[in-house]
Amino acid sequence: MKRILSFVAVFFAAVTAQAQVRVSLHETAQDEPLIPAEIYGQFSEHLGKCIYEGIWVGPESDIPNTDGYRNDVLEALKTLKVPILRWPGGCFADEYHWMDGIGPRDKRPAILNSNWGGTMEDNSFGTHEFLNLCEMLDIKPYISGNVGSGTVEELAKWVEYMTADKGAMAQLRKANGREKPWKVKYLGIGNETWGCGGDMTADYYADVYKRYSLYARNYAGNSLFKVACGANSDDFQWTRTLMEKSASRMDGLSVHYYSVDNWNSKGKATQFTPEEYYDLLTKTVDIDRILTTHSEIMDLYDPERRVALFLDEWGTWFEVEEGTNPGWLFQQNTQRDAIVAALNLNIFNKHTRRLRGANIAQMVNVLQAMILTDGPKMVLTPTYHVFRMYNVHQDATAVPVDYKADILTSASGRQMETLSVSASRDAEGRLHVSLVNPLLEKSQTVQLSLDSLKPASVTGEILQAAHITDYNAYGRTPAVAPAPFKGIRIKGNTVSLTLPAASVIVLEIR
Ligand code: AHR
Repeated sequence: MKRILSFVAVFFAAVTAQAQVRVSLHETAQDEPLIPAEIYGQFSEHLGKCIYEGIWVGPESDIPNTDGYRNDVLEALKTLKVPILRWPGGCFADEYHWMDGIGPRDKRPAILNSNWGGTMEDNSFGTHEFLNLCEMLDIKPYISGNVGSGTVEELAKWVEYMTADKGAMAQLRKANGREKPWKVKYLGIGNETWGCGGDMTADYYADVYKRYSLYARNYAGNSLFKVACGANSDDFQWTRTLMEKSASRMDGLSVHYYSVDNWNSKGKATQFTPEEYYDLLTKTVDIDRILTTHSEIMDLYDPERRVALFLDEWGTWFEVEEGTNPGWLFQQNTQRDAIVAALNLNIFNKHTRRLRGANIAQMVNVLQAMILTDGPKMVLTPTYHVFRMYNVHQDATAVPVDYKADILTSASGRQMETLSVSASRDAEGRLHVSLVNPLLEKSQTVQLSLDSLKPASVTGEILQAAHITDYNAYGRTPAVAPAPFKGIRIKGNTVSLTLPAASVIVLEIR
């Protein structure tokens, strides 16, 4: 029986109090799924300073760059090992006409970005700039096609332009300086077609999906993985309808879920009470139920699990920072965001029999970003560090984990476990265990017991902060940065450690 801690008890427990949790790692389990690297994916939209300034400064910029991509961001992304990158939106995608973004940059039309702050979009970052970036960083592109305001022909020709080796579109690409087709695997057929992507019903979109996807062809050995637009968080009926009507034509079905309780009062990124902290966390871990329920519905129509679930937008969404354009969705990123990211990723690691793609919103300068920039200045966020620490799970084999942690109840009445753990074994046989202690005032001692493994060495990294509201500021020593984790004890097949309050730890066991 799990102990139920009330919200009040969590906050006012003595600071010195320590919980003890025993965690069993079944490292000898057979037939466990691979953790697809793609669930560690990113999202970059033409929104605020995500693309312009955040990634692309243009070759003429004073900011050090390689062919227009800023060098500091390129370096940070290399270290991160981004597996898949979704572009050009989001809502922007359904008003994006790709032909505006090809050919000589000075001849490209400037358009109004009516979704995001009414800013001018000069189209200097287009198909070539995006796909070349992916090639440079060995990222799989995930193109989000325009269904809301674009035609079937427009999408069909875009696919041809990117991937065909002959024909009119291939000729046009070659004339624009790219001889070889690119490899493009992931193609989203519309975004939020229930909202900014066309305001459609599920029934109507299920047919629209088939029409658009039919003419998105495979050329020159390229094989598209087509992702249908999925539900808004817990709209399970959307998933039912799409699976019933169109599953046979799709490779993936998406879902979007943001850690937001009240869209009219989203709260501040850097100022929050313990009550708001736990409310956000319990909202975040509700993703487990959302993924489970969508997966169960998909199982009814696709018991072989051929169709993947893609959580292609997720993350925190707060009020914008004061003085910034409300349409640019620029927010700070604290240790709370790190905890949110780590809780999510531990949950994703356990859903990979169906969940085979996920994209945090967004990569640079927008929502729960990895990287923030201010002109030439750049900073890595706490969320970046979690993604970097967790990249050891990419393409590793999941290792089942059992534990019974206490349960806390937040002010909203939602509940969550007070510990989160996931584990995997990589191709070299190294076992990685990621642990999150979400409690603000309480450390937790964990005993990891392994089936048969008597570890020769265990090393670890920790991400913690002096205050949960700490964030990394330009030009200052980072307030939140990973450090080697000391204090690991090994006895036979048991590894013991104490997780400080509000910390994220990743262990490597050999
Ligand atoms: O990520 C920001 C926006 O959130 C995306 O453009 C849209 O798809 C979602 O509503």
